Amino acid sequence: MNFMLIFIVILTLQSINTYSLPFVVFHGISDKCSNEGVSYFTELLSNWSGSTGYCIEIGNGAWDSWFMPFTKQVDIACDKVKEIDELSEGYHIIGLSQGNMVGRGLVELCSDGPPVKNLISLAGPHAGIASVPFCGQSGLLCILADSLLKLAIYSNFVQQHLAPAGYIKIPTDIADYRKGCKFLPVVNNEVHGNSTFKKRFASLENLVLIMFEKDQILVPKQTSWFGYYPDGSWSTVLPANETKLYTEDWIGLKILDEAGKVKFLNVSGNHLEISTSEMKNNILPYLVDNASTTMTTSRSCDVWPSSVRNFNDKLNGVGEEILQLHTHVESVSLRSWTFW
Ligand SMILES: *[C@@H]1O[C@H](CO)[C@@H](O)[C@H](O)[C@H]1NC(C)=O
Ligand SMILES: *[C@@H]1O[C@H](CO)[C@@H](O)[C@H](O)[C@H]1NC(C)=O
Ligand SMILES: *[C@@H]1O[C@H](CO)[C@@H](O)[C@H](O)[C@H]1NC(C)=O
Ligand SMILES: *[C@@H]1O[C@H](CO)[C@@H](O)[C@H](O)[C@H]1NC(C)=O
Ligand SMILES: *[C@@H]1O[C@H](CO)[C@@H](O)[C@H](O)[C@H]1NC(C)=O
Repeated sequence: MNFMLIFIVILTLQSINTYSLPFVVFHGISDKCSNEGVSYFTELLSNWSGSTGYCIEIGNGAWDSWFMPFTKQVDIACDKVKEIDELSEGYHIIGLSQGNMVGRGLVELCSDGPPVKNLISLAGPHAGIASVPFCGQSGLLCILADSLLKLAIYSNFVQQHLAPAGYIKIPTDIADYRKGCKFLPVVNNEVHGNSTFKKRFASLENLVLIMFEKDQILVPKQTSWFGYYPDGSWSTVLPANETKLYTEDWIGLKILDEAGKVKFLNVSGNHLEISTSEMKNNILPYLVDNASTTMTTSRSCDVWPSSVRNFNDKLNGVGEEILQLHTHVESVSLRSWTFW
Protein backbone atom coordinates (compact mmCIF):
# COMPACT_ATOMS: atom_id res chain seq x y z
CA MET A 1 0.00 0.00 0.00
CA ASN A 2 2.75 2.47 0.91
CA PHE A 3 4.59 1.52 -2.20
CA MET A 4 1.55 2.30 -4.27
CA LEU A 5 1.11 5.69 -2.71
CA ILE A 6 4.70 6.59 -3.43
CA PHE A 7 4.28 5.41 -6.94
CA ILE A 8 1.26 7.63 -7.47
CA VAL A 9 3.14 10.64 -6.15
CA ILE A 10 6.06 10.02 -8.50
CA LEU A 11 3.74 9.68 -11.43
CA THR A 12 2.01 12.88 -10.50
CA LEU A 13 5.25 14.82 -10.32
CA GLN A 14 6.36 13.52 -13.65
CA SER A 15 3.14 14.43 -15.33
CA ILE A 16 3.25 17.94 -13.93
CA ASN A 17 6.66 18.35 -15.54
CA THR A 18 5.33 17.52 -18.95
CA TYR A 19 4.17 20.46 -20.98
CA SER A 20 1.96 19.84 -23.96
CA LEU A 21 0.86 22.24 -26.63
CA PRO A 22 -2.85 22.95 -26.93
CA PHE A 23 -4.89 21.39 -29.69
CA VAL A 24 -7.84 22.49 -31.78
CA VAL A 25 -10.59 20.24 -33.11
CA PHE A 26 -12.55 20.93 -36.31
CA HIS A 27 -15.71 18.87 -36.57
CA GLY A 28 -17.31 17.24 -39.56
CA ILE A 29 -20.33 18.16 -41.62
CA SER A 30 -23.68 18.65 -39.89
CA ASP A 31 -21.99 18.58 -36.53
CA LYS A 32 -21.45 21.19 -33.85
CA CYS A 33 -18.83 21.72 -31.17
CA SER A 34 -21.56 21.54 -28.57
CA ASN A 35 -22.78 18.12 -29.69
CA GLU A 36 -22.04 15.36 -27.27
CA GLY A 37 -19.77 13.27 -29.49
CA VAL A 38 -17.37 16.07 -30.37
CA SER A 39 -17.31 17.65 -26.94
CA TYR A 40 -16.72 14.30 -25.23
CA PHE A 41 -13.91 13.49 -27.67
CA THR A 42 -12.24 16.86 -27.09
CA GLU A 43 -12.54 16.63 -23.33
CA LEU A 44 -11.23 13.08 -23.20
CA LEU A 45 -8.14 13.93 -25.22
CA SER A 46 -7.61 17.05 -23.19
CA ASN A 47 -7.86 15.09 -19.96
CA TRP A 48 -5.48 12.40 -21.16
CA SER A 49 -2.88 14.73 -22.61
CA GLY A 50 -3.08 17.36 -19.89
CA SER A 51 -3.27 19.98 -22.61
CA THR A 52 -5.97 22.44 -23.43
CA GLY A 53 -8.33 21.31 -26.15
CA TYR A 54 -10.49 23.69 -28.14
CA CYS A 55 -13.24 22.92 -30.57
CA ILE A 56 -13.45 25.91 -32.87
CA GLU A 57 -16.86 26.55 -34.36
CA ILE A 58 -17.13 28.12 -37.78
CA GLY A 59 -20.24 30.23 -37.99
CA ASN A 60 -23.21 28.49 -36.45
CA GLY A 61 -22.00 24.91 -36.75
CA ALA A 62 -24.22 22.51 -38.63
CA TRP A 63 -25.75 24.92 -41.14
CA ASP A 64 -22.53 26.65 -42.11
CA SER A 65 -20.71 23.32 -42.33
CA TRP A 66 -23.03 22.57 -45.24
CA PHE A 67 -23.40 25.93 -46.90
CA MET A 68 -20.34 28.10 -46.26
CA PRO A 69 -17.58 27.64 -48.85
CA PHE A 70 -14.22 26.56 -47.46
CA THR A 71 -12.26 29.64 -48.43
CA LYS A 72 -14.58 31.55 -46.11
CA GLN A 73 -14.52 28.87 -43.41
CA VAL A 74 -10.72 28.97 -43.46
CA ASP A 75 -10.65 32.78 -43.23
CA ILE A 76 -12.85 32.62 -40.15
CA ALA A 77 -10.77 29.84 -38.60
CA CYS A 78 -7.59 31.80 -39.36
CA ASP A 79 -8.93 34.84 -37.51
CA LYS A 80 -10.09 32.73 -34.59
CA VAL A 81 -6.79 30.92 -34.02
CA LYS A 82 -4.96 34.25 -34.07
CA GLU A 83 -7.22 35.51 -31.32
CA ILE A 84 -6.46 32.66 -28.93
CA ASP A 85 -3.32 33.68 -27.05
CA GLU A 86 -2.60 30.19 -25.83
CA LEU A 87 -2.04 29.00 -29.40
CA SER A 88 0.62 31.57 -30.19
CA GLU A 89 3.55 29.25 -29.43
CA GLY A 90 2.12 26.59 -31.68
CA TYR A 91 -0.66 24.04 -31.56
CA HIS A 92 -1.92 20.79 -33.00
CA ILE A 93 -4.97 20.39 -35.21
CA ILE A 94 -7.34 17.44 -35.08
CA GLY A 95 -9.57 17.32 -38.14
CA LEU A 96 -12.68 15.17 -38.22
CA SER A 97 -13.74 14.25 -41.73
CA GLN A 98 -14.66 17.45 -43.57
CA GLY A 99 -13.05 19.42 -40.71
CA ASN A 100 -9.77 18.42 -42.31
CA MET A 101 -10.45 20.83 -45.14
CA VAL A 102 -10.46 23.63 -42.59
CA GLY A 103 -7.35 22.14 -40.94
CA ARG A 104 -5.44 21.85 -44.21
CA GLY A 105 -6.60 25.33 -45.15
CA LEU A 106 -5.26 26.73 -41.88
CA VAL A 107 -1.89 25.09 -42.34
CA GLU A 108 -1.47 26.28 -45.91
CA LEU A 109 -3.51 29.45 -46.38
CA CYS A 110 -3.47 31.24 -43.03
CA SER A 111 -0.85 34.00 -43.20
CA ASP A 112 0.84 34.92 -39.93
CA GLY A 113 -1.21 32.40 -37.99
CA PRO A 114 0.29 30.53 -35.04
CA PRO A 115 2.41 27.56 -36.16
CA VAL A 116 0.69 24.20 -36.57
CA LYS A 117 2.90 21.38 -35.27
CA ASN A 118 0.97 18.15 -35.77
CA LEU A 119 -1.97 17.74 -38.11
CA ILE A 120 -3.96 14.75 -36.93
CA SER A 121 -6.51 13.77 -39.50
CA LEU A 122 -9.38 11.37 -38.90
CA ALA A 123 -11.10 10.32 -42.11
CA GLY A 124 -10.02 13.41 -44.04
CA PRO A 125 -11.09 13.69 -47.69
CA HIS A 126 -7.60 14.89 -48.61
CA ALA A 127 -7.47 13.66 -52.17
CA GLY A 128 -11.14 14.40 -52.76
CA ILE A 129 -14.24 12.25 -52.62
CA ALA A 130 -15.90 10.61 -55.53
CA SER A 131 -19.34 10.35 -54.08
CA VAL A 132 -22.11 12.84 -53.78
CA PRO A 133 -23.35 13.39 -50.27
CA PHE A 134 -27.03 13.13 -49.66
CA CYS A 135 -28.53 14.43 -46.54
CA GLY A 136 -31.12 11.71 -46.45
CA GLN A 137 -33.24 13.46 -43.86
CA SER A 138 -36.17 15.79 -43.87
CA GLY A 139 -35.86 19.39 -42.79
CA LEU A 140 -35.00 22.57 -44.59
CA LEU A 141 -31.24 22.08 -44.38
CA CYS A 142 -31.42 18.71 -46.09
CA ILE A 143 -33.88 19.79 -48.73
CA LEU A 144 -31.59 22.70 -49.60
CA ALA A 145 -28.41 20.64 -49.62
CA ASP A 146 -29.91 17.89 -51.70
CA SER A 147 -31.36 20.35 -54.21
CA LEU A 148 -28.03 22.11 -54.64
CA LEU A 149 -26.33 18.78 -55.23
CA LYS A 150 -28.62 18.05 -58.09
CA LEU A 151 -27.26 21.09 -59.91
CA ALA A 152 -23.90 21.05 -61.65
CA ILE A 153 -21.41 20.43 -58.90
CA TYR A 154 -18.61 22.53 -60.41
CA SER A 155 -20.78 25.50 -61.29
CA ASN A 156 -19.99 28.78 -59.56
CA PHE A 157 -23.34 28.77 -57.86
CA VAL A 158 -22.95 25.39 -56.21
CA GLN A 159 -19.31 26.03 -55.39
CA GLN A 160 -20.29 29.20 -53.57
CA HIS A 161 -23.19 27.70 -51.69
CA LEU A 162 -22.38 24.14 -50.82
CA ALA A 163 -19.27 23.35 -48.80
CA PRO A 164 -18.75 19.68 -49.83
CA ALA A 165 -18.67 20.73 -53.46
CA GLY A 166 -15.25 22.13 -52.60
CA TYR A 167 -13.72 18.65 -52.32
CA ILE A 168 -15.77 16.48 -54.64
CA LYS A 169 -13.41 15.19 -57.31
CA ILE A 170 -15.08 13.12 -59.96
CA PRO A 171 -12.27 11.12 -61.54
CA THR A 172 -13.91 11.09 -64.94
CA ASP A 173 -14.52 14.85 -64.89
CA ILE A 174 -11.08 16.16 -64.01
CA ALA A 175 -11.09 19.08 -66.45
CA ASP A 176 -14.26 20.55 -64.93
CA TYR A 177 -12.96 19.84 -61.46
CA ARG A 178 -9.72 21.73 -62.07
CA LYS A 179 -11.54 24.60 -63.68
CA GLY A 180 -14.57 24.85 -61.42
CA CYS A 181 -13.77 23.40 -58.03
CA LYS A 182 -12.84 26.28 -55.75
CA PHE A 183 -11.10 24.63 -52.85
CA LEU A 184 -9.38 21.26 -53.11
CA PRO A 185 -7.36 22.09 -56.25
CA VAL A 186 -6.07 25.12 -54.33
CA VAL A 187 -4.94 23.34 -51.16
CA ASN A 188 -3.61 20.44 -53.20
CA ASN A 189 -1.68 22.90 -55.41
CA GLU A 190 -3.18 21.23 -58.42
CA VAL A 191 -3.65 24.21 -60.68
CA HIS A 192 -1.34 27.04 -59.71
CA GLY A 193 1.49 25.53 -57.70
CA ASN A 194 2.05 27.89 -54.82
CA SER A 195 5.40 27.46 -53.12
CA THR A 196 4.23 29.20 -49.97
CA PHE A 197 1.44 26.68 -49.43
CA LYS A 198 3.90 23.86 -49.99
CA LYS A 199 6.47 25.30 -47.64
CA ARG A 200 3.90 25.69 -44.91
CA PHE A 201 2.54 22.16 -45.33
CA ALA A 202 6.03 20.67 -45.44
CA SER A 203 6.87 22.36 -42.16
CA LEU A 204 4.50 20.17 -40.16
CA GLU A 205 6.22 18.09 -37.50
CA ASN A 206 3.85 15.18 -37.95
CA LEU A 207 1.08 14.44 -40.38
CA VAL A 208 -1.06 11.73 -38.85
CA LEU A 209 -3.47 10.22 -41.36
CA ILE A 210 -6.05 7.93 -39.82
CA MET A 211 -8.14 5.81 -42.17
CA PHE A 212 -11.25 3.94 -41.06
CA GLU A 213 -11.18 0.39 -42.37
CA LYS A 214 -14.96 0.15 -42.71
CA ASP A 215 -15.51 3.73 -43.87
CA GLN A 216 -18.65 3.81 -45.97
CA ILE A 217 -18.88 7.56 -46.24
CA LEU A 218 -15.65 8.50 -47.97
CA VAL A 219 -15.32 7.09 -51.46
CA PRO A 220 -12.65 5.88 -51.67
CA LYS A 221 -11.74 5.49 -48.00
CA GLN A 222 -8.04 5.69 -49.01
CA THR A 223 -8.50 9.43 -49.60
CA SER A 224 -7.79 9.62 -45.85
CA TRP A 225 -4.25 8.53 -46.76
CA PHE A 226 -4.08 10.74 -49.89
CA GLY A 227 -4.82 7.72 -52.07
CA TYR A 228 -7.17 8.24 -55.01
CA TYR A 229 -8.41 7.11 -58.40
CA PRO A 230 -6.14 7.92 -61.31
CA ASP A 231 -7.36 10.78 -63.51
CA GLY A 232 -10.02 9.57 -65.90
CA SER A 233 -10.73 6.22 -64.33
CA TRP A 234 -12.69 4.50 -61.58
CA SER A 235 -10.87 1.23 -62.03
CA THR A 236 -8.43 1.23 -59.17
CA VAL A 237 -7.35 3.31 -56.21
CA LEU A 238 -3.74 4.41 -56.29
CA PRO A 239 -1.82 4.49 -53.01
CA ALA A 240 -0.68 7.99 -52.07
CA ASN A 241 2.88 7.45 -53.28
CA GLU A 242 1.69 6.58 -56.78
CA THR A 243 -0.40 9.71 -57.23
CA LYS A 244 0.97 12.76 -59.03
CA LEU A 245 0.34 14.86 -55.94
CA TYR A 246 3.05 12.76 -54.31
CA THR A 247 5.42 11.90 -57.14
CA GLU A 248 5.50 15.50 -58.40
CA ASP A 249 5.26 16.64 -54.79
CA TRP A 250 2.69 19.38 -55.23
CA ILE A 251 2.32 20.13 -51.52
CA GLY A 252 5.32 18.60 -49.77
CA LEU A 253 3.73 15.28 -48.87
CA LYS A 254 6.74 13.47 -50.29
CA ILE A 255 9.14 15.66 -48.36
CA LEU A 256 7.27 14.91 -45.16
CA ASP A 257 7.04 11.19 -45.93
CA GLU A 258 10.72 10.86 -46.73
CA ALA A 259 11.48 12.55 -43.43
CA GLY A 260 9.38 9.91 -41.66
CA LYS A 261 6.82 12.49 -40.61
CA VAL A 262 3.73 10.97 -42.21
CA LYS A 263 2.00 8.30 -40.14
CA PHE A 264 -0.40 6.19 -42.17
CA LEU A 265 -2.63 4.70 -39.47
CA ASN A 266 -5.80 2.69 -39.67
CA VAL A 267 -8.53 1.90 -37.21
CA SER A 268 -11.16 -0.76 -37.54
CA GLY A 269 -14.48 1.11 -37.54
CA ASN A 270 -16.87 2.81 -39.91
CA HIS A 271 -16.53 6.53 -40.59
CA LEU A 272 -15.38 8.33 -37.44
CA GLU A 273 -16.11 5.42 -35.16
CA ILE A 274 -13.13 5.13 -32.88
CA SER A 275 -12.64 3.38 -29.60
CA THR A 276 -10.89 5.02 -26.71
CA SER A 277 -8.01 2.58 -27.03
CA GLU A 278 -7.62 3.48 -30.66
CA MET A 279 -7.66 7.12 -29.65
CA LYS A 280 -4.93 6.44 -27.14
CA ASN A 281 -2.79 4.56 -29.61
CA ASN A 282 -3.28 6.74 -32.63
CA ILE A 283 -4.01 10.27 -31.43
CA LEU A 284 -2.72 10.77 -27.92
CA PRO A 285 0.99 10.21 -28.76
CA TYR A 286 0.85 13.23 -31.07
CA LEU A 287 -0.69 15.49 -28.44
CA VAL A 288 1.77 14.73 -25.69
CA ASP A 289 5.04 16.51 -25.98
CA ASN A 290 7.81 13.92 -26.21
CA ALA A 291 10.46 16.32 -24.99
CA SER A 292 9.33 16.37 -21.39
CA THR A 293 10.30 18.45 -18.37
CA THR A 294 10.05 21.85 -19.91
CA MET A 295 7.85 23.37 -17.26
CA THR A 296 7.47 23.03 -13.55
CA THR A 297 4.43 24.13 -11.70
CA SER A 298 3.53 24.25 -8.09
CA ARG A 299 -0.02 23.06 -8.46
CA SER A 300 -1.17 20.53 -5.95
CA CYS A 301 -1.55 16.89 -6.85
CA ASP A 302 -5.28 16.81 -6.25
CA VAL A 303 -6.06 19.10 -9.16
CA TRP A 304 -4.38 16.78 -11.58
CA PRO A 305 -6.38 13.57 -11.45
CA SER A 306 -6.60 13.35 -15.20
CA SER A 307 -2.87 13.76 -15.66
CA VAL A 308 -2.21 10.98 -13.22
CA ARG A 309 -4.62 8.82 -15.08
CA ASN A 310 -3.08 9.83 -18.35
CA PHE A 311 0.36 8.91 -17.20
CA ASN A 312 -0.83 5.61 -15.86
CA ASP A 313 -2.26 4.68 -19.20
CA LYS A 314 1.06 5.20 -20.82
CA LEU A 315 2.82 2.86 -18.41
CA ASN A 316 1.62 -0.32 -20.03
CA GLY A 317 -0.40 -2.20 -17.50
CA VAL A 318 1.38 -0.92 -14.42
CA GLY A 319 -0.76 2.18 -14.27
CA GLU A 320 -3.94 0.32 -14.92
CA GLU A 321 -3.38 -1.67 -11.81
CA ILE A 322 -3.14 1.53 -9.80
CA LEU A 323 -6.22 3.29 -11.07
CA GLN A 324 -8.75 0.97 -12.56
CA LEU A 325 -10.90 3.69 -14.02
CA HIS A 326 -10.88 2.82 -17.65
CA THR A 327 -10.03 -0.70 -18.32
CA HIS A 328 -13.14 -1.00 -20.47
CA VAL A 329 -13.12 0.21 -24.06
CA GLU A 330 -15.76 2.65 -25.15
CA SER A 331 -16.77 3.50 -28.64
CA VAL A 332 -17.02 7.20 -29.31
CA SER A 333 -19.10 7.87 -32.34
CA LEU A 334 -18.52 11.36 -33.66
CA ARG A 335 -21.05 11.20 -36.35
CA SER A 336 -24.15 13.22 -35.68
CA TRP A 337 -27.48 12.82 -37.33
CA THR A 338 -26.32 12.62 -40.89
CA PHE A 339 -23.83 10.29 -42.45
CA TRP A 340 -20.86 11.90 -44.03
C1 LIG B 1 -12.21 15.22 -17.59
O1 LIG B 1 -11.73 15.55 -16.31
C2 LIG B 1 -12.65 16.26 -15.51
C3 LIG B 1 -11.94 16.65 -14.22
O2 LIG B 1 -11.39 15.52 -13.62
C4 LIG B 1 -13.86 15.37 -15.26
O3 LIG B 1 -14.81 16.06 -14.48
C5 LIG B 1 -14.48 15.01 -16.59
O4 LIG B 1 -15.56 14.12 -16.41
C6 LIG B 1 -13.45 14.36 -17.50
N1 LIG B 1 -14.04 14.19 -18.81
C7 LIG B 1 -14.03 13.05 -19.48
C8 LIG B 1 -14.70 13.06 -20.80
O5 LIG B 1 -13.49 12.02 -19.09
C1 LIG C 1 0.52 32.00 -53.05
O1 LIG C 1 -0.81 32.37 -52.84
C2 LIG C 1 -0.95 33.54 -52.03
C3 LIG C 1 -2.39 33.73 -51.71
O2 LIG C 1 -3.21 33.60 -52.83
C4 LIG C 1 -0.35 34.71 -52.80
O3 LIG C 1 -0.46 35.88 -52.03
C5 LIG C 1 1.10 34.42 -53.06
O4 LIG C 1 1.65 35.43 -53.85
C6 LIG C 1 1.28 33.09 -53.75
N1 LIG C 1 2.70 32.78 -53.76
C7 LIG C 1 3.32 32.21 -54.77
C8 LIG C 1 4.78 31.97 -54.60
O5 LIG C 1 2.74 31.87 -55.79
C1 LIG D 1 4.66 3.11 -51.76
O1 LIG D 1 4.63 2.83 -50.37
C2 LIG D 1 4.54 1.45 -50.09
C3 LIG D 1 4.36 1.28 -48.62
O2 LIG D 1 5.30 2.02 -47.91
C4 LIG D 1 5.79 0.76 -50.62
O3 LIG D 1 5.73 -0.62 -50.35
C5 LIG D 1 5.89 0.99 -52.12
O4 LIG D 1 7.08 0.45 -52.61
C6 LIG D 1 5.83 2.48 -52.44
N1 LIG D 1 5.71 2.65 -53.87
C7 LIG D 1 6.42 3.52 -54.56
C8 LIG D 1 6.13 3.63 -56.01
O5 LIG D 1 7.28 4.20 -54.03
C1 LIG E 1 -4.43 -1.87 -40.69
O1 LIG E 1 -3.74 -2.25 -41.85
C2 LIG E 1 -2.92 -3.36 -41.70
C3 LIG E 1 -2.11 -3.54 -42.96
O2 LIG E 1 -2.86 -3.20 -44.09
C4 LIG E 1 -3.76 -4.57 -41.39
O3 LIG E 1 -2.96 -5.70 -41.23
C5 LIG E 1 -4.52 -4.28 -40.10
O4 LIG E 1 -5.38 -5.32 -39.84
C6 LIG E 1 -5.28 -3.00 -40.22
N1 LIG E 1 -5.81 -2.67 -38.92
C7 LIG E 1 -7.08 -2.44 -38.68
C8 LIG E 1 -7.44 -2.05 -37.29
O5 LIG E 1 -7.93 -2.53 -39.53
C1 LIG F 1 9.16 14.37 -30.90
O1 LIG F 1 9.99 15.50 -30.93
C2 LIG F 1 10.79 15.62 -32.12
C3 LIG F 1 11.69 16.82 -31.98
O2 LIG F 1 10.99 17.90 -31.40
C4 LIG F 1 9.87 15.71 -33.33
O3 LIG F 1 10.62 15.80 -34.51
C5 LIG F 1 8.99 14.49 -33.38
O4 LIG F 1 8.12 14.57 -34.46
C6 LIG F 1 8.20 14.37 -32.07
N1 LIG F 1 7.40 13.17 -32.09
C7 LIG F 1 6.10 13.17 -31.84
C8 LIG F 1 5.43 11.84 -31.84
O5 LIG F 1 5.48 14.19 -31.61
